[in-house]
Amino acid sequence: MSKAGRLVVLVSGSGTNLQALLDAAADPKFGANVVAVGADRDGIEGLARATRAGVPTFVEKLRDHPSRQAWDAAIAAKIAKYEPDLVVSAGFMKILGTPTLERFTVLNTHPALLPSFPGAHGVRDALAHGVKVTGCTVMLADAGVDTGPIVAQEAVAVLPDDDEATLHERIKTVERSLLVEIVGRMAREGWSVIGRTVRIGNQSEGESK
Ligand code: GRF
Repeated sequence: MSKAGRLVVLVSGSGTNLQALLDAAADPKFGANVVAVGADRDGIEGLARATRAGVPTFVEKLRDHPSRQAWDAAIAAKIAKYEPDLVVSAGFMKILGTPTLERFTVLNTHPALLPSFPGAHGVRDALAHGVKVTGCTVMLADAGVDTGPIVAQEAVAVLPDDDEATLHERIKTVERSLLVEIVGRMAREGWSVIGRTVRIGNQSEGESK
């Protein structure tokens, strides 16, 4: 069974999920610390949040590399430098390649109830489809787009007057607490993965990473 004391968090934007993890980790009882924050672009609030919290940051831009494979290797090397027990992709808008996925467990968060509405526009796509209930999903990352084993989900009702922004804000409120709850439990209780089933806490058998 794996445990997660050291977290590397990856961000591409405002970083409110990161902030929720930073706030939770301020309590030693949480069981995990954010040891570094990585991004695929400069000048984002997510990096500023890390800096304000005194957490080291790194940026690996795709355009600074001759190929996607070179970027995959470079970001894996940056992550590895901080020896994380768990990598949290929290609003990181890139699919991580095998150099990261083979070496680390990566937890991902998505603003829809997978397997519905994967990809970069989960909120917009759910609204356009006319669903009455959507939500958020915390899952392990694999090589696909939001296809990894699901760890936890929570539903959010779609209101008649919702637009993408209002719905996303309500989802993010739920998403932040779910992410904090799951990361904390993984850190304190450990986890294991059997096929597509992720178990947090004690269990008698199974493979672990
Ligand atoms: C979250 O809803 C995440 O699931 C999605 O983008 C949002 C990131 O928000 N991919 P933030 O950067 O944590 O505020």
